[in-house]
Amino acid sequence: MSEIVVCGSLNYDLVTFTQRLPDAGETITAGKFETHAGGKGLNQTVAIRKLLAQNEHVDVAMIGHVGDDSFGNELKSLLRENDIGVDRVISLEGVNTGVATILVEQESGQNRILLSEGANGHTDFLESDLNRLFPSRERPLDRATNHFVVFQNEIPGTVSIMRWIVANRPHFKVVYNPSPYRELSKEDWSLVDILVINEIEALQVLRSIFSVHDVAAFENMVRKDVLEGYKLVVSRLGTMLNKKQSLGAVIITLGEKGVVFASQDSPDVKYTAACHVPQVIDTTGAGDTFLGGVVSQLCTDHTLEEAIGFAVKASSLSIQKTGAAESIPSFQAVTEVP
Ligand code: RIB
Ligand code: NA
Repeated sequence: MSEIVVCGSLNYDLVTFTQRLPDAGETITAGKFETHAGGKGLNQTVAIRKLLAQNEHVDVAMIGHVGDDSFGNELKSLLRENDIGVDRVISLEGVNTGVATILVEQESGQNRILLSEGANGHTDFLESDLNRLFPSRERPLDRATNHFVVFQNEIPGTVSIMRWIVANRPHFKVVYNPSPYRELSKEDWSLVDILVINEIEALQVLRSIFSVHDVAAFENMVRKDVLEGYKLVVSRLGTMLNKKQSLGAVIITLGEKGVVFASQDSPDVKYTAACHVPQVIDTTGAGDTFLGGVVSQLCTDHTLEEAIGFAVKASSLSIQKTGAAESIPSFQAVTEVP
């Protein structure tokens, strides 16, 4: 049986819909207010589970921290309802659950997010914790089976956990969504098997490891022709990833402009267009839904191109509903998108 473990954040999302953003010192009347389950870690875990076909035997679990408050309990219940293991989601005493204050513009569905990390800030594990959180199996795991561990950057210490995984649990493929952006050394990028990154973060990574001259050339290309520019960025980022793994893949999401991607197996950079959506309601969690779509399909032996086609459909459904985790569609709903 394949195993997917997501190590990351759980947030309670407080979402206000508004026509416009207030200026400093200004009070305005906004539209509706909603609360939703969120956090990139939780959203991605739910997305992976919901986007696996019902008959697929994949064990999906999450590792993270919540506070000992009602928000934390609600988030754990939502995971349980979705058939996701929560024995590695730890409730911390006297700490708040992470909260995201989200403003969604009614016109465009675009969001702005303020994170208050709360319990997520305590996810800095010791070696003894990691041995317990990622138990080594008695029987050697089937190498032909796909096992993934997924990280984002809403918890501290992601890189040290990745280093430990690569050294101690090498059967896992490391999926990394470096959001919010955080600087990594060149060596640390090579821990990653599958990089899923948005257009802004992709340029931030380039700036952190390539010369000013190189980066200026890429930025110029992107300005002239977005797709061609980002195709070059994909190839460049690909040179940083793990050469030992066949799946070393770079996927850059460009929002409504689509997705560009390549892998070691298929180094020619490909492009998948975004789906046309009648009305965007709320883009919160669209990137997480996309990532869940990719990982769920790769885990069940689809090609990278198939996985991305599926994930693009999944995220196009998620932006037509409010909320992050609650807007993630089922596998079945995605297969019905033309
Ligand atoms: O990616 C979307 C998520 O970012 C929201 O659910 C919010 O909690 C923030 O973490
Ligand atoms: Na949504």
